[in-house]
Amino acid sequence: MGVVACSKESFVLWQLPSQVDTIGNSYVIRTVNGKVIVMDGGFEAEKDYLRGFIDALGGKVDAWIISHPHDDHITALVALLDNPKGLKIEKIYHSRFSTDALIDGESESTAQITRKFYSQLDKATDIVVVDCHPGDEFEIDGVNFKILSEQNPEFAQRNPYNNSSMVVKMWDREKSFIFLGDLGVEGGQKLLDSQYAGDLECDYLQMAHHGQAGCDKKFYETVKFRACLWPSPTWVYNAEMGQLRTAEVRGWIKELGITEHYVSNEGLVRIE
Ligand SMILES: [Fe+2]
Repeated sequence: MGVVACSKESFVLWQLPSQVDTIGNSYVIRTVNGKVIVMDGGFEAEKDYLRGFIDALGGKVDAWIISHPHDDHITALVALLDNPKGLKIEKIYHSRFSTDALIDGESESTAQITRKFYSQLDKATDIVVVDCHPGDEFEIDGVNFKILSEQNPEFAQRNPYNNSSMVVKMWDREKSFIFLGDLGVEGGQKLLDSQYAGDLECDYLQMAHHGQAGCDKKFYETVKFRACLWPSPTWVYNAEMGQLRTAEVRGWIKELGITEHYVSNEGLVRIE
């Protein structure tokens, strides 16, 4: 892939297709003047595709934003930090889990990945690591970011990692996005009850937890949005396994009258 041309009016967002038809969550943004921002990045198996994508944009990531330390969100980054091969990362933004109860709240393997990631961050002397909190705002080359939700240790017993997704709003004068990560029902309810509920308005909404069993119907009814980003493999989008609730969520969205959908299993999505 060659260097991709960019609109001079607004940033470009790509929703990357999974390379292994699984639930990797991966977005790349290029600003008007060529700054590169990555949201999550997907599984380790997707690292080579992601590296190639970043290389085509210049080989430097100005800001890498992590929603939460589940393997489908961070293991591509963990692998690239292990073996950067010239990849440069200037800043990483995340919401660091501050209690062992939260870090250990799921499986041992998940806690191990989380601790490895935190160890990499602690050792990375050439990367600025920003621990984010709700209300924090930053701007990168005309693109604005606001953190709406962070780690929620009170949900250490209830879907802890997903309910601790860092929710991020991103916008400029032309368009806006909200990335929900894998936010669950409880985290979504807390966000609706918070002082940041008024920020829940955007053009493009990344569907929570790959579009199934994430935030509840009330959450989607409350957020004002016009289009859906689905970081969903075929088998999740089509609810091909009995316990998947994607069909129910798609029904809620249909009831809202929203018809504009971008689905990662249909290929690379580019939004200008
Ligand atoms: Fe996920």
